Amino acid sequence: MNILILGSGGREHALAWAIRQNPKCDRLFVAPGNAGIEGVARCVALDILSGPDVIAFCEETAVDLVVIGPEAPLAAGVADALRAAGILVFGPSAAAAQLEASKAFTKQICDACGAPTAAWARFDQAGPARDYIREKGAPIVIKADGLAAGKGVTVAMTEAEAIAAVDDAFGGAFGEAGAEVVIEEFMAGEEASFFILSDGVDCLPIGTAQDHKRVGDGDTGPNTGGMGAYSPAPVLTQALQDQVMDRIVRPTIAEMARRGMPFQGVLYAGLMIRDGQARLVEYNVRFGDPECQVLMMRLGAQALDLILACAEGRLSDVQVNWADDHALTVVLAADGYPGTYMKGSAIKGLDGLPDDSSEAVFHAGTALRDGQVVAVGGRVLAATGRGASLREARDRAYALVGRIDWPQGFCRKDIGWRAL
Ligand code: AMP
Ligand code: GLY
Repeated sequence: MNILILGSGGREHALAWAIRQNPKCDRLFVAPGNAGIEGVARCVALDILSGPDVIAFCEETAVDLVVIGPEAPLAAGVADALRAAGILVFGPSAAAAQLEASKAFTKQICDACGAPTAAWARFDQAGPARDYIREKGAPIVIKADGLAAGKGVTVAMTEAEAIAAVDDAFGGAFGEAGAEVVIEEFMAGEEASFFILSDGVDCLPIGTAQDHKRVGDGDTGPNTGGMGAYSPAPVLTQALQDQVMDRIVRPTIAEMARRGMPFQGVLYAGLMIRDGQARLVEYNVRFGDPECQVLMMRLGAQALDLILACAEGRLSDVQVNWADDHALTVVLAADGYPGTYMKGSAIKGLDGLPDDSSEAVFHAGTALRDGQVVAVGGRVLAATGRGASLREARDRAYALVGRIDWPQGFCRKDIGWRAL
């Protein structure tokens, strides 16, 4: 079959890398892709937020399945457009994507289905929001309701910080996304991510992971999109996964179906775990980046069978062939990230690096200029290793990092510390 993946990050390179290994995959396209993706697929220039453009490409090139990587095309309704055109698609409708695109929507779903999460209230004006903060006290969490590129959340340790965050949101710091604010109880505990495929009815867990959001070693410095990740997450024991499926995931999927907006795609549950109990922090309606890199390294070629079963509504027919393995990925970012960073620096040492079922370097913000790979984004590469233990996976990933010659880049040296 011919497959089109939408997106251009490390997540999409990992998806393409795994899908390519499956003999069912004939032609593989990625739009818009990056320099690394060129090695496993054909990169095509397409406006991935435009349903008509994506449909036209699918019709011209006989694409059988579209896999949507990032949230923006999902929230823009590209999956709806493809389904309406009779094209098989992996990814939720715009209505179901509200589970990521609106914090208040997710909270309402949790309340309706009894899924444990932080106590919350929503505000569309600063005055009542400030009063609520003074009543509840700190620590407290302030969230812009809409999509804010990961920047809309403030975990406020003082009332003053919380009030400043409310004033920022209503002052327009997040544009439309901040026109409404959700204020939440602060939850203490250990965070972990859980990935579940759903075809709207059935659910299939496909792995757990933990990421490292802060830019600096020891979890210091500003938040980023993620500086590294590993899978599995030891804190998410089988018993906890069963608890999350019973109390959070299945009730959510049932509630979405009941509302006439069945969720079809990958549900990424961000969880807070404390004293053997998990509560929902948030949902995303796509794979995490860089969590996808470790999941794809572990799933390999079967990823396509699972994605296809999900898109075709026959998840109850498939199962995951688990290996007793671990994967870890280290993100290399451009100096200055997550602040301003330089573009255009050359990356050497990529040729001849191992690329097999236990090690690979996935590209994110890279492009080819005159035959040379150059950095064009903040997060640029994800060096990924797999092994029988997390330590082995980590050693493989850092061995790859050691062979990359990019003086203008940096990475964290302690990915996996919590689990190791
Ligand atoms: P979100 O975008 O909702 O995942 O929030 C980003 C990050 O803020 C999460 O990964 C948590 O680290 C933190 N966070 C969000 N909500 C809460 C909460 N209610 N209590 C504690 N930390 C939170
Ligand atoms: N790594 C976090 C995310 O993809 O949202």
